Amino acid sequence: MKILVLHGPNLNLLGKREPDIYGKVTIQRINRALEKLAAENKVTVDFFQSNHEGEIVDKIGRIRGEYQAVVINPAAYTHTSVAIRDAISAVGIPAVEVHLSNIYAREDFRRQSLIAPVVKGQISGFGVQSYLLGFLAAIELGKKKK
Ligand code: DQA
Repeated sequence: MKILVLHGPNLNLLGKREPDIYGKVTIQRINRALEKLAAENKVTVDFFQSNHEGEIVDKIGRIRGEYQAVVINPAAYTHTSVAIRDAISAVGIPAVEVHLSNIYAREDFRRQSLIAPVVKGQISGFGVQSYLLGFLAAIELGKKKK
């Protein structure tokens, strides 16, 4: 089974970016923790990070047939991107939405996710654990998809 982990805009800056909100962990460390979890569960994981909406849409459009499930942190595009929402909907691969911070406990504009209605579920507010929990959920979804 192959699972894709997709990181949206500014997540390449993790570690330096607002550490009081997002913590000090880097994207490299998150990816290493996910690789370990993937190995323990005998699944393959690939990573993709982009700051560009169109690149994320293109990537999602190419995943059918290659991946059984997707973990996505759409970052700021969570709150704005109809295009990413439509891409997830179009490919029909089960997706799990994750957020490091609790988007419901922050500014009003972060309380709406345009992505949430087209994913299987959302995990928000647990820092790196959001990704790890989301990844475990994706493995279960991928098993059903096979
Ligand atoms: C985020 C929350 C978003 O509102 C924000 O724009 C991000 C990161 C999170 O992981 O907590 O860039 O998705």
